Amino acid sequence: MHEMTAANLRSAFSGESMAHMRYKIWAERAAKDGFANVARLFRAISAAEQAHATNHFKAMADVAGAFLVASGGGFGLGGTSQNLAGAIEGETFEINEMYPAYMAVAQAQGEKAAERSMHYAISAEKIHAEMYARAKEAVDGGEDVQLGPMQICNVCGYTAEGETPEYCPICGAKKDRFQTFA
Ligand code: FE2
Ligand code: FE2
Ligand code: FE2
Repeated sequence: MHEMTAANLRSAFSGESMAHMRYKIWAERAAKDGFANVARLFRAISAAEQAHATNHFKAMADVAGAFLVASGGGFGLGGTSQNLAGAIEGETFEINEMYPAYMAVAQAQGEKAAERSMHYAISAEKIHAEMYARAKEAVDGGEDVQLGPMQICNVCGYTAEGETPEYCPICGAKKDRFQTFA
């Protein structure tokens, strides 16, 4: 694998891994603040970020060894509204800056596996940003967000609300690869 794509994948793996943990921590805080659905949203999206991190890691099958990894990562354990703002900021950075730039490099270098893994991620991040914005609006109005069952594709991290789809619209995985947070 070309070094620039590998470095970008390592950074994205790090960012996704942190997001996975950060959302679990913010889920605990949302539950404590009395927002059960926001807590469930954080837990569901945390699972999507795990899928993204896993795909990036596997795309680097021919890269081994120890590396110092630099990546963006949000910090801060505030109230739920503040945590949602942090989540929106992180997702927006990935959508507008990080993944488009990394995908352009992967494409220029002909790194198909990296491109696919990043395409899976950015597709879900767009949904994450929207759902977090909706949750923040509710919380800022003093209410929990109205939220149906959450469906996460364990293959690509696709995120949806409602019934489990027969096939994932992003990666084509079958229904049984979905994890439900109801
Ligand atoms: Fe992600
Ligand atoms: Fe995300
Ligand atoms: Fe999928």
